[in-house]
Amino acid sequence: MTTRIPVTIIGLGSMGSALAQTLLRAGHPTTVWNRTASKADDLVTQGAVRAETVRDAVAGTDLLIAVVVQYETLRGILDSAEGTLAGKTLVNFTNGTPEQARELAAWAERQGLEYVDGGIMAVPAMIGGPEAFILYSGSQAAFDRYQPTLARLGATRYLGTDPGRAPLYDLALLSGLYGLAGGAGHAAAMVGADAAEFTETLFVPWIKALVGILAPEVTAGSSEGSPLDMQAVVIDNIVQASRGQGLGTGTLTHLLPIMQLIVGTGVGAQLKPLIEQIKEA
Ligand SMILES: NC(=O)c1ccc[n+]([C@@H]2O[C@H](COP(=O)([O-])OP(=O)(O)OC[C@H]3O[C@@H](n4cnc5c(N)ncnc54)[C@H](OP(=O)(O)O)[C@@H]3O)[C@@H](O)[C@H]2O)c1
Repeated sequence: MTTRIPVTIIGLGSMGSALAQTLLRAGHPTTVWNRTASKADDLVTQGAVRAETVRDAVAGTDLLIAVVVQYETLRGILDSAEGTLAGKTLVNFTNGTPEQARELAAWAERQGLEYVDGGIMAVPAMIGGPEAFILYSGSQAAFDRYQPTLARLGATRYLGTDPGRAPLYDLALLSGLYGLAGGAGHAAAMVGADAAEFTETLFVPWIKALVGILAPEVTAGSSEGSPLDMQAVVIDNIVQASRGQGLGTGTLTHLLPIMQLIVGTGVGAQLKPLIEQIKEA
């Protein structure tokens, strides 16, 4: 039987617990630490080792995976193990900014700790499944060494040695998602009482069908099927209809001036001018 690399997971919220469970199922000796120790109970029954302190958690394991609520929290946790981290690798899945990732990588370097930042593009239920993927950047040597283990959590996408790259792409993807979620929320508010059925039977299938068609059009810079000036009129109509329903229009009104500016340039729905207008907005 192939020997599995021992792993330590720091942070057992929804995501850390899903990561630990997946690694345990794959046969990795898994040590866990969480501020609220009782969150390890189920994992211990599945074979995890509960560490009483952070120093105990990192002792004897070369691959440390951290996933807590924010970077400041993680620094506080790691500070308590300072002096014991040299020669190990930290893979940090905590959400943060590119600047925070670079600062933590510099701190890790002073500890002799190799640093890889990770952006999990999945929810806990997807971890270990075929649709989960995770962005990585930072030490290439450390990423290459642990890639087979990390691949158990989701498909791996390495973006280069700048530790800030993975969080940048992570936040960019989330920005797209939150934009969509804001639009979905507004759509549901417009239809009111039928919102749940509307979302399930109309909005979601409609978006799924459109994404496949529209995404290549936008990246290729083609807007033949849906001219932008037509869309600017539609957005204005949505704003008016929303007001008629007694709704706020904050999720939409920021789009209108951007679209009108692009229409003014006469370039259609191309990605490059859209990016330029967003820089100005
Ligand atoms: N859940 C998702 O869908 C998802 C998806 C992708 C990425 N992520 C990222 O994964 C990270 C964790 O998310 P999550 O969903 O697991 O969050 P969560 O369920 O709220 O868990 C938060 C974790 O942070 C710990 N924590 C918070 N404050 C702390 C403190 N002062 N000292 C020590 N530990 C502290 C919590 O410990 P206690 O249990 O002791 O409170 C817990 O382990 C976040 O950065 C999130 O953006 C989450």
